[in-house]
Amino acid sequence: MMQNLEILVEKAKKVRENAYAPYSKFKVGAAVLADDGKVYTGANVENVSYGLTVCAERVAVFKAVSEGARQIRAVAIVADTDKPISPCGACRQVLLEFAAKECKVIMANLKGEQVTKSIDELIPYSFTKEDL
Ligand code: THU
Repeated sequence: MMQNLEILVEKAKKVRENAYAPYSKFKVGAAVLADDGKVYTGANVENVSYGLTVCAERVAVFKAVSEGARQIRAVAIVADTDKPISPCGACRQVLLEFAAKECKVIMANLKGEQVTKSIDELIPYSFTKEDL
C-alpha cells in the first residue's frame, strides 16, 4: 500500500506540469487511486472567467468517475507550496462523495514534504447521502 501511495505522489507531481494556470500561476497536480485499481490524474484548469476554474482534485475525481470508477481509495495532491498543499473545501466535499472508507489524502509539495490525513479528518461533521 505504501508503495502505491508513493506512486500516487509521483503521478500527481508529473501531471502538475500540465496545469493550465496562466492567471494564478499556481499549478496543482492530483492523482486518485480508484477501486478499479487504476490511477486517474488531474491538473487545475483555469478560465479567463475566473470562477469557471476547476481544481486538480476535481479534474482527477471526475475523470475516474466518468470512466466508471465509483470509489476512491486514496488521493495525492502536489503543489509548489511552502507547506504541503491542502485541498479546498469544495474539493473535500467532492472527494467525500466517492471516498472509500478510510480514504487517505496525501498532501505534498515539491520539496518532498508530505502530510497524510483521512478524508473524515479533513471534512468533519459533513453533509452526506445519509442526510438526505
Ligand atoms: N487549486 C487546485 O487546483 N487545488 C487546490 O487544492 C487549491 C487550488 C487551484 C485553483 C486555481 O487554479 C489555483 O489553484 C489557485 O487557486
